[in-house]
Amino acid sequence: ATSATILAIESSCDETAVAILRGDLNQVDILSSEISSQIDIHRQYGGVVPELASRNHSLALRPLIDSALKNAGLQFNQIDAFAATAGPGLASSLLVGHTAAKAMAVASKKPFLSINHMEGHLLSPFIAGKTGIQPNISLVVSGGHTMILHTKQFGEYILLGKSMDDAAGEAYDKVAKMLGLPYPGGPEIEKTARGGNPEAYAFPRSMLKRGNLDFSFSGLKTAVLYTISELNPETGQAKAEQLPDICASFQAAVIEVLVKKTIRSAQSVSADRITMSGGVSCNGALRDAMADACNRHSMQLEICSKHLSTDNAAMIAYVGLHKFLRNQYSDLSCDIDPNLPL
Ligand code: KG4
Ligand code: ZN
Repeated sequence: ATSATILAIESSCDETAVAILRGDLNQVDILSSEISSQIDIHRQYGGVVPELASRNHSLALRPLIDSALKNAGLQFNQIDAFAATAGPGLASSLLVGHTAAKAMAVASKKPFLSINHMEGHLLSPFIAGKTGIQPNISLVVSGGHTMILHTKQFGEYILLGKSMDDAAGEAYDKVAKMLGLPYPGGPEIEKTARGGNPEAYAFPRSMLKRGNLDFSFSGLKTAVLYTISELNPETGQAKAEQLPDICASFQAAVIEVLVKKTIRSAQSVSADRITMSGGVSCNGALRDAMADACNRHSMQLEICSKHLSTDNAAMIAYVGLHKFLRNQYSDLSCDIDPNLPL
């Protein structure tokens, strides 16, 4: 086949998502993309509770599949293959979506496609394009991962750098928690930072001087913690009026290293195209800073819409479509892997 219709399920963390995508290797249409967020359920615990997540995935999934088919105007038997995230993620959450997609593949006698969540993020900047997947330097910044890869073509990704400790999104979430901001912290810090001075505190730009392309955000996290307790020796808690400057300065430190190392990576392999994906790439300040730097270095930048930057099933369907059109079907005996490498 040169084109196909793929239904995909994403259930690696706290969003249940189902999408239907149709297209070929160059161009696709998202026929439907449904998301049921569990953020309100987990917020009261300050983070994702795995047992609650998997139960809510299984409750949310069936209605989401029905509405994905309805919104796409399709019947179950018009789907060419069923895809699902196999990892990385929470084991019990992954199992719900992975097993459901297998069951649909068996019931319809169609292929099953087991997909890497990070490959979904990585390729998401190409979903809206008309030229398929182009070679590029890819910055992937999510809640669990911070990576720079040299994407040569579909399936060929060379890791150039990664975080040695916390992922960028994880740093946002942990610093937000220290500041008493709700989960997930990324959007909260971005909002709060808007009223602040990014130069108020000189937080460390870790590993920037070294020639390598790896990241470390735990020192930055500790620096924020020290600043909070120095400013508030009695309570150890940041006051509301201190939050904008702390958030803006923290964010400036994260963004500076992300941008500099991405540009450095592109220069190291003489690439002139950069893509950015994952939840943290929703961040407006990061988008602006990366766009600026790419302009200055005459590099082309591709970032997807915010809806496709955070967890979604369209990105899983997109990888699924590329696998399907290359006959890279998965065996029904294949398993999930919470630590699945790219
Ligand atoms: O890609 P994603 O939805 O899920 C994972 O695969 O991890 O990323 C979620 C992460 C969270 O850490 C969240 O705080 C962060 O992305 N995030 C942001 C923003 N929106 C989401 N970080 C900074 N600024 C944002 N606007
Ligand atoms: Zn993700």
